[in-house]
Amino acid sequence: MEIVYREEQGLFRLTSGNMEYGIGIVDGQYVGHVYFGKRIEDDGYTYLMRTGEAPYTPSANKRETGAFMDSFPFEYSVWGRGDYRESCLMVKSPEGYRGCELWYEGYRILDGKPRLSGLPATFCKDPEGGDGKTLELYCKDKVLGLRVILRYSIFADSEALLRSVELVNEGDKRVCLEKVLSACLDMDSGHEQVLTLNGSWGRERHMERRDLAYGKQQVSSVRGETSHQEQPFMAVLDQNADQDHGEVYAMHLIYSGNFAAQVEKSQYDSLRMTIGIHPEGFSWMLKPGEHFTAPEAVLVYSDEGLGKMTRTFHDLYRNHLIRSPYLHEKRPVLLNNWEATYFDFNSDKLIAIAREAGKRGIEMLVMDDGWFGCRDSDNSSLGDWFVNEEKLQGTLKELVDRVREEGLLFGIWFEPEMVSPNSLLYRQHPDWAFAVPGRDPVQIRAQYVLDLSRPEVRDYVFEAVANILRSADISYVKWDMNRQLTDVGGLCMGAERQGELFHRYVLGVYELQERLVTEFPGLLLENCSAGGARFDPGMLYYSPQIWCSDDTDAIERLAIQEGTALLYPLSTMGAHVSDCPNHVTGRVTPFTTRGHVAMAGTFGYELDITRISREDQKEIEEQVKQYHQFQPLVREGDYFRIASYSENHLYDCWEVVSKDQRQALVTYVQVLARPNYHSRRIRLKGLREDGWYRLETEDLRMGEYGEGLAQPQNGGVYSGRLLMRGGILVDPMKGDYTSRLFHLVSVDHPGSRGTKGQG
Ligand code: GLA
Repeated sequence: MEIVYREEQGLFRLTSGNMEYGIGIVDGQYVGHVYFGKRIEDDGYTYLMRTGEAPYTPSANKRETGAFMDSFPFEYSVWGRGDYRESCLMVKSPEGYRGCELWYEGYRILDGKPRLSGLPATFCKDPEGGDGKTLELYCKDKVLGLRVILRYSIFADSEALLRSVELVNEGDKRVCLEKVLSACLDMDSGHEQVLTLNGSWGRERHMERRDLAYGKQQVSSVRGETSHQEQPFMAVLDQNADQDHGEVYAMHLIYSGNFAAQVEKSQYDSLRMTIGIHPEGFSWMLKPGEHFTAPEAVLVYSDEGLGKMTRTFHDLYRNHLIRSPYLHEKRPVLLNNWEATYFDFNSDKLIAIAREAGKRGIEMLVMDDGWFGCRDSDNSSLGDWFVNEEKLQGTLKELVDRVREEGLLFGIWFEPEMVSPNSLLYRQHPDWAFAVPGRDPVQIRAQYVLDLSRPEVRDYVFEAVANILRSADISYVKWDMNRQLTDVGGLCMGAERQGELFHRYVLGVYELQERLVTEFPGLLLENCSAGGARFDPGMLYYSPQIWCSDDTDAIERLAIQEGTALLYPLSTMGAHVSDCPNHVTGRVTPFTTRGHVAMAGTFGYELDITRISREDQKEIEEQVKQYHQFQPLVREGDYFRIASYSENHLYDCWEVVSKDQRQALVTYVQVLARPNYHSRRIRLKGLREDGWYRLETEDLRMGEYGEGLAQPQNGGVYSGRLLMRGGILVDPMKGDYTSRLFHLVSVDHPGSRGTKGQG
């Protein structure tokens, strides 16, 4: 890991592992992007900016400054001075003039990485900052007196590059920021496809790959949260790139609000990728002396396809973003009562569930929506965070103590950011909800959104949640957010600051969650938003896990979890086994398959265990054992995608390999059975080529769904080379939606017994 400045060439080189990022200073003024990719052991590459070609730099050809501006690869593009491609920064002066220009003024190279005020961001593991370095480039718009600090950080153990931007008003007049993106990446085309994650409620983060065309291709959210619909991520990749080959350039934003991620192909076939807060609905008044910090962007380059990109994101987030003490801990196997009872429960019912759950090895009961105010449906009571003691047949503490007596931990659901029109809170403080005077706010799920930009609202919300947590022995909170924002008007905000509300709302959520994890450091926090509408890196800074989707159908989950795992470690994906027919799709899948699919996440149950069949209850015991066996591997290992049901429409397969390559777990789901077909060849990945592995099959549950074992080839012991080049053969199974786990454990040499590897 190194950041150096080569003064003679005007070149900054940032290198970590096999990654290199080059920034050039041109004409002593312009900050240009030179290179991002595989490491180059050479200082002489500033010519890649093409400043030796027409239209030349303004110092050599002042009459064509505009042509230069519109073709130069800028590190941070600005609006209004001739660069007509996507801008990162648009500023309005007090007189209403738009535009700015950045003059390079100097730099600083720091050990470690500064925190971003009020925002989640990656951090050094070493408190002294020994495992990270940061380059700060100082630029200035002399007319506005606006200082722009471009920050680039790297970590010793990662090939990701982290970027953020800070603006400081050093002038004597207020300026209005109308657009502040976080990163810009200019490059030549040749990487011809775009990959994004898209969806809707119940089908979040499906991968979509399409050809890159001229003009702008964008994914975005203006919903006030990251959304079910699109993810703050975009990758540009070679046409032929796959899991293991090809170049990939990816951007991801550590933020939980409105965003835009875009690529633009311009007239000279150059590409510009940008990512940051969506400019629509955004403006920020910056008074003299004030600072504004844009959220952090993660840039990842891979020359070994999507698989390496994925593992770079996973390791970065596990090592430098998630702070929770649970990050490397086994999460308790939980049972959530939502799909078990919905609103129809009382303490007796919950205790009956907890008792049966405890017998089967389940470790925590989570009481979901419906325990507060007078909430027996989703029509009321959000905001009234006091316990419905009539419904619970006593106090919360009494219920929690009873659950603890059954040997289970207790978790609880909140939706702190919301208020129901039918609530005491709304009747007392109607002005606390977002609204535009004269208009009735739009209702979504019969609720309004609290204006979290207001400190008194945040204080109320925090105390309401904290009081409940202080009142009983509560180990886990599910923090939900079930509607997107509309009518974003702050009744306490001046006209010129209304454009700050979307961002201030997100900052308010961050502040609340920071307070929560500070006062309750041992709490296991799981974020959620009507399923997975706020599955983003920002939330991971506060909670080690996020509910993936309200769709718990094992087959639907294949695509959802594949897309989610493209960026997020498996240890972050909330995944549960639920009852069948599935409540969303009506599909019936084997209990085993539901377990195998949920095992790729944090694992738990979402069903009334007192009402399922004896066989399924028994199988829960088996699944919980498997979970304890495999969870360390799933949580800490390297993830490899082997086959995608979304692509082949027949089967799905992924693998997790421990960091020491001593064990691997392969999950195989046969979505559709095919008659009269030979076995399927599965080639594994990530193993030690010269290692030997025993295929453990005792965990495979046979039964009514047929054969399905891998044939006992080689007496069950294989070389790593054979497993990766030759593969194993998986027999067809009878029945759709069947699945198998294959556990491989390294052995010293063929014929010896397996030695259990480390997770
Ligand atoms: C959201 C969540 C669900 C459940 C309900 C409760 O939809 O995603 O898991 O908590 O809210 O209202």
